[in-house]
Amino acid sequence: MRKLFKKIIAGCIILMFVYTIRIGFVKAEEKEEKKEEAKPPKESPFREPEHQYVGVKKCKICHKVKKIGGEQFQVWEKSKHAKAYETLGTEEAKKIAKERGIDNPQEDGRCLKCHTLAFGVDKKWVTEDVTKEEGVSCEACHGPGADYKDKKIMQDKQKAIEKGLVIPNETTCTACHNSESPTYEEFKYEEFKEKIKHWDKEEK
Ligand code: HEC
Ligand code: HEC
Ligand code: HEC
Ligand code: HEC
Repeated sequence: MRKLFKKIIAGCIILMFVYTIRIGFVKAEEKEEKKEEAKPPKESPFREPEHQYVGVKKCKICHKVKKIGGEQFQVWEKSKHAKAYETLGTEEAKKIAKERGIDNPQEDGRCLKCHTLAFGVDKKWVTEDVTKEEGVSCEACHGPGADYKDKKIMQDKQKAIEKGLVIPNETTCTACHNSESPTYEEFKYEEFKEKIKHWDKEEK
C-alpha cells in the first residue's frame, strides 16, 4: 500500500515537472510571436537605403521658399499624405485595426509601414529629426535626402540622383497604393498624380 502511494506521488511529481517545462515552452513561443510582431513587416515599402533619411523639416528650409527650391512644402502640408499618421488615430482606423486584432494602429507596424516615413529602416539610416507625425513626407517618394539636400547638389539634377534623389514614378506609389491597404481604392497613376501636384513644369 505504501509502495503504491509512493509511486503515485512520484508520478505526480514527474507530471508536474513535465507540465512546468511545457508551460515554459509555450511562454517562450508566445514571446517569440510578440517579437515577430514588433519587427517590421517583410514587405515594408522602405528598403534598406544607402543614404540617411533626414525628415521633412530639412526639405522645408528651401522648399517653402519660392526663390530657393519652390513652394512644394505648402502644397504637401495640405495633402492627405501629411495627415497619414493622424489618420491612424481616427475611429475609422481603430475599427479597421480591431478587425485585424490590432489594438493601436498608431503603434503597430502593420499600419505604420505605409502611413509614416522610413518605417522599419535600420536606425543608423534615420536621423532623429524624422518623426512618425510627419506621415508620408517628401523622402517617402523622393528618397533619403542626407546626401543630396545641399544646395549645390540639389541644383544639379544628375548629381542629386547620384546622391540618392528619386524622381518618382508609378512604382514609387504602388509600394503603398496596393491591395494590402485595408481601404484600397484602385490606383490610377495619372489621376492620383494630378491630385498631389506640387510642381510646375510650365514655369521651367
Ligand atoms: C539648401 C536648400 C535645399 C534643401 C535643404 C533641399 N532642397 Fe531640394 N532643391 C533645392 C534647389 C535649389 C533645387 C533646384 C530648384 C530648381 O531647379 O528650380 C531643388 C530641387 C529639388 C527637386 C527637383 C529635382 C529636379 O530637378 O527634378 C526635388 C525633387 C527636391 N529638390 C527634393 C528635396 C527633398 C525631398 C529635400 C529634403 C530631403 C530637399 N529637396 C532639400 C534646394 C534644396
Ligand atoms: C509610403 C507610402 C505611400 C507612398 C509611397 C505613396 N502614398 Fe499616396 N497615400 C498613402 C497613404 C497612407 C494615404 C492615405 C492618407 C490619409 O488619408 O491619411 C495616401 C493618399 C493618397 C492620395 C489621396 C487619396 C484620396 O482619397 O484623396 C493620393 C491622391 C495619393 N496618395 C497619391 C500618391 C501618388 C501619386 C504617389 C506616388 C507618386 C503616392 N501617393 C505614394 C501612402 C503612400
Ligand atoms: C507621394 C509622393 C510625393 C511626395 C510625398 C512628395 N513628392 Fe515631390 N514629386 C512627386 C512626383 C510624382 C513629382 C513629379 C515627378 C515628375 O514626373 O517629374 C514630384 C516633383 C517634385 C519636384 C520637382 C518640381 C518641378 O517643378 O520639377 C520637387 C522640387 C519636389 N517634388 C519636392 C518635394 C518636396 C519638398 C516634398 C515634401 C514637402 C515632396 N516633393 C513630396 C512625388 C512626391
Ligand atoms: C500597403 C500600405 C498600407 C497599409 C499596410 C495600411 N494602409 Fe491605410 N492607407 C493606405 C493608402 C494607400 C491609403 C489611401 C487610400 C487607399 O488607396 O487605400 C490609406 C488610407 C487609410 C485610411 C483613410 C481611408 C479614407 O477613407 O480616407 C485609413 C483610416 C487607414 N488607411 C487605416 C489603416 C489601418 C488601420 C491600417 C493597419 C491595419 C492601415 N491603414 C494599413 C496604405 C496602407
